[in-house]
Amino acid sequence: MPTIFTVIAVLLLTFDSLHGQDVILEKSPVENIKLPPGPMGLTFGKANHLSTFGIDRVGCSALPGSSGPTCNPYTGDTLCSLLRPVLCVKVDNSPRPPYLVLGTGAAMPAYFYAGWNLGHIATTLPVQGFQFANRAAVNAFCTMYFGSGWVVATFHDGKYIAGMNGTTYSASSWALNAALIQTGGWHYYSYGDVRNDTRFWIHIQGQPANCWNP
Ligand SMILES: *[C@@H]1O[C@H](CO)[C@@H](O)[C@H](O)[C@H]1NC(C)=O
Ligand SMILES: *[C@@H]1O[C@H](CO)[C@@H](O)[C@H](O)[C@H]1NC(C)=O
Repeated sequence: MPTIFTVIAVLLLTFDSLHGQDVILEKSPVENIKLPPGPMGLTFGKANHLSTFGIDRVGCSALPGSSGPTCNPYTGDTLCSLLRPVLCVKVDNSPRPPYLVLGTGAAMPAYFYAGWNLGHIATTLPVQGFQFANRAAVNAFCTMYFGSGWVVATFHDGKYIAGMNGTTYSASSWALNAALIQTGGWHYYSYGDVRNDTRFWIHIQGQPANCWNP
């Protein structure tokens, strides 16, 4: 049986005698209907800065918004209409500085969540996620801001060697064991000292969690 939805708009007409204009005050029941949220994109935040090494830890559950997981790499977590800086990276194969790998890990060992991005991060000014047609356009935006070689950060930028911690697999020992490097996720370390008052757009491959096409 067909269902008919009827939307009743109540129009109240009043006459504004001062200006001689008809003023229409619309009171609509549509206001009470909860619209589905728009498309969402994936964001990271900055967790902390380690001044000893000049590095940041960025990731999913990071400031601002500290209670529980604050990103969603499967469907996105932030409306694409909102303004967020893009997190940009330049990978120059910098060897891992001797930061400690803290935490106990989860589904994966702790190293997975404490990877090294082999380079630097920086943030653009805030923009709508909607403004980019595809990943290449976000990369071009990073290049415009910071120069050649800068591209959008991704969920899997962090690289690790199982057993790395402090000086173990850092500096030349990291570089000499490049064959052991694996890809991590959720959080990572990078040279940089980015802002911590907002989250940032990042990219993820193979998931419908970006504001732009792959
Ligand atoms: C790394 O070393 C620190 C300091 O010794 C230690 O507390 C931490 O548990 C170690 N991390 C791992 C993953 O073993
Ligand atoms: C944000 O960074 C500033 C320094 O840049 C620091 O003083 C402040 O504690 C940080 N805020 C949080 C919530 O970590």
